[in-house]
Amino acid sequence: MDKYVSVAIDGPAGAGKSTIAKRVAAELGWLYVDTGAIYRTVGYHMSLMGIGPKDKDGIERCIDDVNIQIEYRDDGIQHMILNGQDVTDLIRTPEMSMMASGVSAQPCVRAYLLDMQRELARTHNVVMDGRDIGTVVLPDATVKVYLTASAEVRAERRWKELLAKGQDVKYEDVYIDVVKRDEQDMNRKIAPLKCADDAELLDCSYLTIDQVVAEMKAIIRKKVQP
Ligand code: DC
Repeated sequence: MDKYVSVAIDGPAGAGKSTIAKRVAAELGWLYVDTGAIYRTVGYHMSLMGIGPKDKDGIERCIDDVNIQIEYRDDGIQHMILNGQDVTDLIRTPEMSMMASGVSAQPCVRAYLLDMQRELARTHNVVMDGRDIGTVVLPDATVKVYLTASAEVRAERRWKELLAKGQDVKYEDVYIDVVKRDEQDMNRKIAPLKCADDAELLDCSYLTIDQVVAEMKAIIRKKVQP
């Protein structure tokens, strides 16, 4: 029997994975791992180096210079440290969303990050969210959930989030980005976003955050007694 419990939450951009995963992890006292933030950090490094998201050679050349540390501090935020610099806020822009989605299609990037993610699950009880957690990173995860919502609902949530952070963005642009990112993440050759055969599908288009958290905890309780 595995020593640690792992909850894999996958789904498209803006489905609310991080909000839900963070709350569930906090309530259960487990570690929340936002794997999208790791891809964003790689994307940020590449953009600093002037390398585009499709520049396979450039990314392969630079990937070994990427030194990422994840720090969990008392503020409850997963801090991303890139080569000694805290980039936690810098990676939360629409540009970095697209950049992360682009670089994440490169096999060398996925291979580079795989061990980091698996190591966290090997050493902690985790609630890990991403695109390929239940299918590739943790195929034997204790619990797998595919969290989704309609593109309109997801774009509206992302748009409000960005406005609340003071970013001046139009709903239409956020919607286009969400649909484009779905397309890229679902159709890439390596580790595409899809619902694992053994995952529970949870559509949260018409559910409140509290309802989704309750649903998620009920799914977890079917497999483990926290
Ligand atoms: O969850 P997010 O929006 O922060 O993720 C940013 C991008 O990173 C996403 O569009 C695709 C990529 N990603 C991935 O390929 N695999 C993961 N496990 C997590 C994110």
